[in-house]
Amino acid sequence: MNFMAECRACGGKHLELVINLGLQPPSNAYLNAANSLETLYPLRAVRCTDCHLMQLSHDVDSKQIFNADYAYFSSNSKEWLAHTEAYAKMAISKFGLRRDRSVVYEIGGNDGHLLKHIKDHVIRAVNIEPSKSVADASHAAGVETWCEFWKPQQMRADLIIANNVMAHTPDLRGFVKALSLNLKPYGVITIEFPHVLTLLDNIEFDTIYHEHYSYFSLTALEPLFAKYGLRVYDVDKLPTHGGSLRLYVSKFRSDETPAVTALRSEEHSLKSHWIYDLFAHKAHRCKEDFLTFLSECPAPIVAYTAPAKGNTFLNYCGVNRSQIKFVADTTLAKQGKFLPGTRIPIVAEQELLDLRPEYVLLLAWNWKHEIISKLRPLLPETKFVTAIPHLEVL
Ligand code: TMP
Ligand code: ZN
Repeated sequence: MNFMAECRACGGKHLELVINLGLQPPSNAYLNAANSLETLYPLRAVRCTDCHLMQLSHDVDSKQIFNADYAYFSSNSKEWLAHTEAYAKMAISKFGLRRDRSVVYEIGGNDGHLLKHIKDHVIRAVNIEPSKSVADASHAAGVETWCEFWKPQQMRADLIIANNVMAHTPDLRGFVKALSLNLKPYGVITIEFPHVLTLLDNIEFDTIYHEHYSYFSLTALEPLFAKYGLRVYDVDKLPTHGGSLRLYVSKFRSDETPAVTALRSEEHSLKSHWIYDLFAHKAHRCKEDFLTFLSECPAPIVAYTAPAKGNTFLNYCGVNRSQIKFVADTTLAKQGKFLPGTRIPIVAEQELLDLRPEYVLLLAWNWKHEIISKLRPLLPETKFVTAIPHLEVL
């Protein structure tokens, strides 16, 4: 673990506390046994008052997080698969990818679910994925996969895809430099990440965890990109992960779309401290309201889905197995394990269906529509509860 005394983007030393989520284990470090030993690290978000990047105050070594047992498989959600397939179609036509010469890199392409749709339309499509568990799955899906972290390469690409991965690097400047070095002069980079403005506005404090070293905005990224000759020329707003941005970045374009100009002014509020203060205050309220709800429930409740963000939330609330009996999740690799910190057991979805519980806490609130439409017909009496941005019984 490493204390970060300076801003990952601009190197500035003026960092202010945004929120202190206490001592927590890494969010994706699911335990093999209820009594496994685990190490806790401070989980605190700070912001740079120079460039306005939000980042964690303490780094957990990324090799410890994205290890051979990394349990996050992107292919578990139908909505996410539809999102990536739509992206692939768009990219093939918008960037004029060609079977005889285009080279594509995807950084942290997980189990290869996106490149699968692109690989037959280009000469080479490579998934650069450091976590062996998911890299093996990608390889098995027929996608060329290099099991390593993103770094400068011999081969340059026409398109570099960085979906929900840039927050995962402690060495942000090294990452952006490699983006620039690995891009052909007329190439394009697309970068997706949850928008920090949405995170703050919607009180998504549970998406803060050790795997996410930084929380991005256009405001913080533009000067960093400029340092490496890169420019944002377009942006899409996406509903994924609670509210994300997709930036279109290149070396050669000097124009920008009205959407970029509008976003820059929309992000003005990121420069004042009140938005951060209000966020921390409301996060605290979420915790208090949820604990009150739990204390009023007659029996331990159960939860559905075991996403990493659920662990931030439960550990921040300080709950345990006497309050939440189990969490059901469809991911086979998670079943039979225990949530880090709270040590709540993870079971198969069938166990939840058999129990017919009165209340089910939905931890992956971002999939609540998909989940409720799936479970409601099977559990007509059950009430579904989400805790973020505020307690809601659905
Ligand atoms: P994510 O929000 O990070 O994609 O994680 C979603 C988690 O929820 C993942 O562990 C899979 C799980 N899940 C289910 O168990 N059932 C579902 O219907 C959905 C959509 C997700
Ligand atoms: Zn900075």
